[in-house]
Amino acid sequence: MQPFTVFIKDRAVTIRPIVDEDASAWLDYLKQVGDETDFLAFSSEQITMDTDQARQYLEQASKRTDSLFLLATDDNRILATLNFECGRWPFFRHHGEFGISVVEEFWGCGLARIMMGTMLEWATQNNVRKIHLKVRTDNHRAIHLYQSMGFSIEGMAERQCFRPGVYYLAYHMGLKL
Ligand SMILES: CC(C)(COP(=O)(O)OP(=O)(O)OC[C@H]1O[C@@H](n2cnc3c(N)ncnc32)[C@H](O)[C@@H]1OP(=O)(O)O)[C@@H](O)C(=O)NCCC(=O)NCCS
Repeated sequence: MQPFTVFIKDRAVTIRPIVDEDASAWLDYLKQVGDETDFLAFSSEQITMDTDQARQYLEQASKRTDSLFLLATDDNRILATLNFECGRWPFFRHHGEFGISVVEEFWGCGLARIMMGTMLEWATQNNVRKIHLKVRTDNHRAIHLYQSMGFSIEGMAERQCFRPGVYYLAYHMGLKL
């Protein structure tokens, strides 16, 4: 995937694969987005990796040819990430799941739509035949985005997510390529 730059909020934002040198910025990013929303699986205190561990994780991730881990950056910090991974066994290799997040300051600016478009292009070129995801049924912004990009609701799972005292329903959404 070739890096490219878009202008959002008067800033040049580059979208490119994440690399191990991004480890420290990635940890800062995870802590920020983890505390900005409860639609993600973690909060900042649950990010316990140190920079070396993060670097190793990203080094391994960047070696995989069946996955795409993208970030958006304005050069000072990470503004968004999208992580798509195919199944590891031949039985599942034709499909993959992704997760996406954007820093709150940039919600509603089209960044997630641009990154998903890049993922769809990459997936088509890499023989992926199906993309799926799970999303809390009350995450209206994300559901609107996924549906507007062709994903449909394929099922619903009870007790998919947990926050102290509350279980949440999740939709399983999918897109055939
Ligand atoms: C969900 C998320 C990734 C979307 O990123 P984003 O950059 O804001 O998305 P975009 O700007 O590309 O698109 C958002 C769309 O939702 C719409 N939208 C905004 N608020 C909405 C709401 N409350 N209900 C329905 N649609 C809404 C916007 O109008 C836009 O649609 P449009 O392009 O048709 O106008 C981002 O909000 C985020 O990181 N949220 C927290 C983490 C998260 O929920 N991740 C997904 C877990 S499954």
